[in-house]
Amino acid sequence: MRKYVIHGGRPLYGRVDISGAKNAAVGILPAALMVEGACRIENIPAISDVDLLLNIMQDLGAHVRTVNRTTMDIDCTHILNQQIPYEQGRKIRASYYLIGALLGRYGWAEVPLPGGCDLGGRPIDLHEKGLTALGAQVEVHSGYVYARAPEGKLHGAHIYLDIASVGATINIMLAATLAQGMTVIENAAKEPHIVDVANFLNSMGADITGAGTDVIKIRGVKRLRGGEYSIIPDQIEAGTYMACVAACGGEVRICNVIPKHMECITAKLQEMGVEVEEDGDTLIVRRNGPLQRTNIKTMPYPGFPTDMQPQIAAVLSTAKGTSVLTEGVWGNRYRYVEEFRRLGASIQVEGKIAVIEGVEKLIGAPMEACDLRAGAAMVIAGLAAEGTSEVSNIKHIERGYENLIGKLNGIGADICTVEVPDEETTSVRNVG
Ligand code: EPZ
Repeated sequence: MRKYVIHGGRPLYGRVDISGAKNAAVGILPAALMVEGACRIENIPAISDVDLLLNIMQDLGAHVRTVNRTTMDIDCTHILNQQIPYEQGRKIRASYYLIGALLGRYGWAEVPLPGGCDLGGRPIDLHEKGLTALGAQVEVHSGYVYARAPEGKLHGAHIYLDIASVGATINIMLAATLAQGMTVIENAAKEPHIVDVANFLNSMGADITGAGTDVIKIRGVKRLRGGEYSIIPDQIEAGTYMACVAACGGEVRICNVIPKHMECITAKLQEMGVEVEEDGDTLIVRRNGPLQRTNIKTMPYPGFPTDMQPQIAAVLSTAKGTSVLTEGVWGNRYRYVEEFRRLGASIQVEGKIAVIEGVEKLIGAPMEACDLRAGAAMVIAGLAAEGTSEVSNIKHIERGYENLIGKLNGIGADICTVEVPDEETTSVRNVG
């Protein structure tokens, strides 16, 4: 087991380069399974969720060649199997995209029910409904999703999503790409990674219009061929570094971002007294004065992202006054609050609402990451706190942040990874 040790209280200065978007990469890699021919994919983030998916794909018969640190050639022309081993598939949320991709190309898929962060209930009923509308028979039992197109091929359909689900939108889009006829998804999710997956598919020969709006039209094509594609920068990774600067003070150039994707986060940080200046694909984030309180409700894009909710709570913990956070997407995304309290944060949670009374300062303490973004938020709180903090269970954080330690130390933080004997890991959790 490993943990992070953070000596906090240092302002941050310098530049940080943002990696490719995790939630786009985990849609695009399964999409490559549908392509006959080699795809060159650039700007792939080096994170454990990507490694897990690549391992699964290689076991299915994909040829993966590393071109350089962020670029890979992936050839899925000869896929030998459509069944994902249980232990591999359940480790990652995005394994559900393997259903749409394999079902769309081969007419069947057997994929374990997905794992990933525990954020309250994470049903996949909308995925099932969408795939069923495309003509698939979908059964869920024994920990698996079994999906089959009775005649080997799916057909286009008109699908209305009750909730603008990111996962269901991408999964239906994947399955419909090689279906016969036209599919229309209404109330589709609009997140930047939806557009990125659609752009990837189109650059391989798909016919998808409207991604990024709430109506996506997919005209089925016979096959996808190889091509080249570069994944967009990670909105949430960029937002996390913006939150680091907001919490610690200083001035950092956050490079390789799409400023438009960042507006929902930028606007809130500005309300809190953080300066954000745009310079091409760079955001210059500066904070010298005190942080001001604000209220935030998380919403689907272009609203404030739920995947930034814990990080912004870390920032608001030392803002002047009382802030109200409302979680508008997930049932339970406040599991980090108990850990923040160890640092002296004052947060009360009632259902989907958290009331944060800003305290003058946080004091370092041990914390245990309970999911990816909560873990990132604990790192931010530790960086802002006086003294030494520790964050254990860092496997959650490594699922989604490339080289977090290197990037933070590069802007003046003092954070390192240490090995922990197993007994110590359990005792940290039991403190208090
Ligand atoms: C994606 O999860 C992201 N994961 C999540 O990011 C992100 O929090 C979420 O979208 C919302 O933006 C990936 O892209 C791999 P949803 P997803 O389907 O697709 C309900 C991170 O930290 N719902 O948009 O699973 C659901 O319960 C992760 O990077 C149903 O009811 O989210 C939730 O309340 C965590 N039935 C809402 O919709 C369904 O069939 C939105 O979920 C599907 C979803």
